Parts: sequence; C-alpha cells; structure tokens
Amino acid sequence: MSATARREELKELLIAARQCTRCHELAATRSSVVFGAGNADAELMFVGEAPGANEDIQGLPFVGAAGKLLEQLLADIGLSRSEVFIANVLKCRPPGNRDPQPAEIESCKPYLVRQIELIEPRVICTLGNFATKLLRGDPAGITRVHGEPEVRTIGSHTFRLYPLFHPAAALYTPSTLETLRADFVRLPAILALPPAPPIVPEPPVDPEPAGPPVELDRQAEQLGLF
Ligand code: URA
Repeated sequence: MSATARREELKELLIAARQCTRCHELAATRSSVVFGAGNADAELMFVGEAPGANEDIQGLPFVGAAGKLLEQLLADIGLSRSEVFIANVLKCRPPGNRDPQPAEIESCKPYLVRQIELIEPRVICTLGNFATKLLRGDPAGITRVHGEPEVRTIGSHTFRLYPLFHPAAALYTPSTLETLRADFVRLPAILALPPAPPIVPEPPVDPEPAGPPVELDRQAEQLGLF
C-alpha cells in the first residue's frame, strides 16, 4: 500500500475512533478520543497506557508531566516528538485514571493493531505494563522484560518491540528513571538495525514417514515397475 493510501486510511480510522462507543462508560465520560499523534510514517512508535486528564482535555497523547519527560528522553537521543508516533492502549481516559479494564483493552485493540499496520514502524516502544503485556501477548511484567528488544508480528506488520518503563513511573522513582534513561540510550542502535525480518511460520511437520523402501520396492515389483 502506498504511503498516501496508508495515510488516508489512518485518517478514516481516526474518524471511526472519534465516534466509537464500544466502551459505554469511557464514551460517556470522555471529553475527547485521544487517537495518537505524530508522524504517520514514523520509524519509531510509542505505545502508552491511556490518556490522563490533560490528554483528555487536549485530545493529544502524553501532554502532561510524563509527556515532558518523554520529550526530554527523545531530545537526549536527537529526536523530537514530531518525528515519532505516540499512541496508547486505550484511546479514551478511564475515569479517575483507573486501570484499563480487560474488556476495554480488547475493544480498543483493533484500533492500535490497525495503527501499527498503517504506520509500519520499525521499532515500537511499549511504555509500562499494559502496552507491554498487550503487544507481547504475555503476562510478563515490565520489570522483567524492559530493555530487551525482540521481533514481534502484530496483524500484518513485523517490527522490533522494545519494552520500556512508563515515564510516569519514572517521575517519582529515581532508580526507575535511571533504568529508563539507560534503556533509552540503546534505542538509536536498535533503530539502526536492519528491518525485522517477518517471522516465517514453521513448516508443517512431515506426515508419517512412508513405509519402508523395501515394501515400496515390493509393491513396485508387483506393479511391474521394475
Ligand atoms: N500516560 C499514558 O500512558 N498515556 C498518555 O497519553 C499520558 C499519560
């Protein structure tokens, strides 16, 4: 699909998301749908958890204190937020910033999957537990898997997944900030790797091996093939 076609479809997805009422509570309490923002052809994408109060008001992801830290970390490696794409697991703010519920995550997942397929980033950084567990399809927590890049396929797109601590967690815990900074410093090297090769499914295991050759030979003989 051409870059123009991908961009057009991303706009259509945005329009659909803005009208979404799959999660009745979130649709009833939100001020805006925070679809995500940034470069639609970004090589690097970030996936956070869900919009907070500021994001809900402005309709943009990561505009509060955690967003400022994310911008600083990006600047430290020579990138600006306009060069990357930033999205969230949930497009709507959970009331009172409660945790996203499993049913909400499932309902919102198709939007994120399509965003990934249309933006085609080479590297996706998941920020915190919710994004990491969703995109890895595994319950392992961020403390265990942060800073370990791995090749993953979501929908039709294969990319390098790089789990990071959530910047909000790093705001108040100096050791988490230190780890997040150390993981971030390795990001340029991960971006410089060749595109992740699509994971080819294992070829099916051979069916039962054919009978012993001697038996075949005997049958062939009977058929007059020798
Ligand atoms: N935290 C998130 O996970 N996402 C935002 O957009 C803002 C804060």
